[in-house]
Amino acid sequence: MQHQIAGAGTLSLAMALPLAAQASSQLAIDMGCYSCHGAALRDEAPRFERLSSRLAKYKGDPAAQQKFVDKFRAGEMFGHIDAHERLSPESAKALVRWLADAAK
Ligand code: HEC
Repeated sequence: MQHQIAGAGTLSLAMALPLAAQASSQLAIDMGCYSCHGAALRDEAPRFERLSSRLAKYKGDPAAQQKFVDKFRAGEMFGHIDAHERLSPESAKALVRWLADAAK
């Protein structure tokens, strides 16, 4: 066995999720979210599980999620982070809903 499957960990996580959640998890990968919020921590960025628990208060509350999305994309929250501001409104909404709904 010479080679490993790159990203196998992420893949199995995605496979354990329902379909809609899979699409968002793929979106998070595509948008580079995991490069800061992934398992290998970079700087002060919290891990995805933590993001999710911080968004727990918006669970099932689309209006509050939308408010958060607007602030998030405006980049005012954490001193400009490109990956946040680059998100389309639709992508940001999908990711925020995904994180909030995944909260325990
Ligand atoms: C360049 C590194 C970097 C990338 C890439 C990145 N983030 Fe962040 N993110 C941060 C940092 C730093 C914070 C601020 C953490 C803090 O101050 O508590 C943050 C905060 C957040 C928060 C707010 C958490 C809270 O406390 O309210 C969310 C949600 C978030 N990021 C989601 C994402 C998503 C979704 C993506 C992919 C589109 C992404 N991030 C990409 C670095 C990054």
